[in-house]
Amino acid sequence: MDKIVIEGGDPLKGEVIISGSKNAALPILSACLLTDGWHTLDNIPKLKDIWTIKEILSNLGVVFEENGQALRVNSDNLNNYIAPYNLVKTMRASILVLGPLLSRLGKVKISLPGGCAIGARPINLHLKGLSAMGADVHLEHGYVVASADKLRGANIFFEISTVNGTENLMMAAVKADGITTLNNAAKEPEVVDLANMLNSMGARIKGAGTDTIAITGVKELHPIRYGIIPDRIEAGTFLIAAGITKGKIKIKGCNLDHIEIIIEKLLDIGMEIEKQGEDLVAIGHDKIKSADIKTMPFPGFPTDMQAQFMALMCIADGWSMIRETIFENRFMHVSELRRMGADIEINGAQALVRGKRNLSGAQVMATDLRASASLVLAALAAEGRTEISRVYHLDRGYQDLDLKLSLLGSKIWREKY
Ligand code: EPU
Repeated sequence: MDKIVIEGGDPLKGEVIISGSKNAALPILSACLLTDGWHTLDNIPKLKDIWTIKEILSNLGVVFEENGQALRVNSDNLNNYIAPYNLVKTMRASILVLGPLLSRLGKVKISLPGGCAIGARPINLHLKGLSAMGADVHLEHGYVVASADKLRGANIFFEISTVNGTENLMMAAVKADGITTLNNAAKEPEVVDLANMLNSMGARIKGAGTDTIAITGVKELHPIRYGIIPDRIEAGTFLIAAGITKGKIKIKGCNLDHIEIIIEKLLDIGMEIEKQGEDLVAIGHDKIKSADIKTMPFPGFPTDMQAQFMALMCIADGWSMIRETIFENRFMHVSELRRMGADIEINGAQALVRGKRNLSGAQVMATDLRASASLVLAALAAEGRTEISRVYHLDRGYQDLDLKLSLLGSKIWREKY
């Protein structure tokens, strides 16, 4: 296994290019199941979760071809409708094949994803929506088994805003009979990107990015060429990297509309952020003010940036209150940050951070994807050497984070252990 070693204290300087969005690429790759022909996808990030979804799709009969930077995808010869436990257990987002497989083949059997480190993460709302569309859905020996001769449009209310749930039902509905309305739909940019991709395939989706999405079923879809949006969480992570190291970096290829709330918070705490077209120049200063955050569905502060923002608050002047409202167990980075000298108290879904001038390098352990990123950020600012083990979590969702940071001047490398 790899560990990442960081000698902290260097201000970051230079330019970094943001990769394609993991959480947009996963449903978009799954959407290629909806029709035959060759799709060409640009800006697919190179990271572990993408390899996992490709493995799941390959197992169903999907074929891939690398074409320069683009990825070609073909599902003419689907020969399987089962996503097995050994593949699904490694990534919950595998559930994204549920809607498109049911639409294309009329049947699907997929291992029920278990809980994960950050919370129980049930999929009841995905299943309830498919039942409302006329599917027979039941659980069998740890698998979700769903079938439908023909899905039909339905009026669906999500009691909680769910990103992958909205995406799954949108993909199930594009070829259903009649109109499907998704109420209290997720508004995340990744949902909008999927809707744009599906519309360019010939789907009729209106309202993506608002609370109500209306999908009029169509008879046929066609393959397309499509480019994935930049990863807003990677962009946010680099913004914080500039702040926490008191550096100056140019972050290239962001969609600023997707990271407005992050930029606003970082301006509040005293960073300078200049917009230059699709690029941002971020400058961190010696004085970091404290600020409170509360994670919320988009356009609120993303839960996927909570751990990274907490790392920054560990060296801010004063107290900050971090409230996690999306997942019930997303504070696992706290005990590791404490090992680096952070002063954080947890009370239920709230963490009270008392900022201090310095963190110190330590041996720490990554527990989930964004927790790993927060430890990397803390280590960049800490005095001395930090060793982060279990960085396979980081590799699931960031393309070359350590390489990109090293090109920005940080002393960071990998070692085997
Ligand atoms: N929920 C239910 N029932 C459902 C579905 C969701 O109760 O049927 C609950 C969840 O337990 C959670 C809340 O609803 O408390 C929101 O979960 P959501 O379904 O929106 O999360 P997700 O779709 O499983 C995606 C991202 C996550 C990101 C969340 C929230 C992907 C592949 N994953 O997960 O990304 O945190 O939305 O924005 O798109 C990450 O990249 O590190 C990551 C965890």
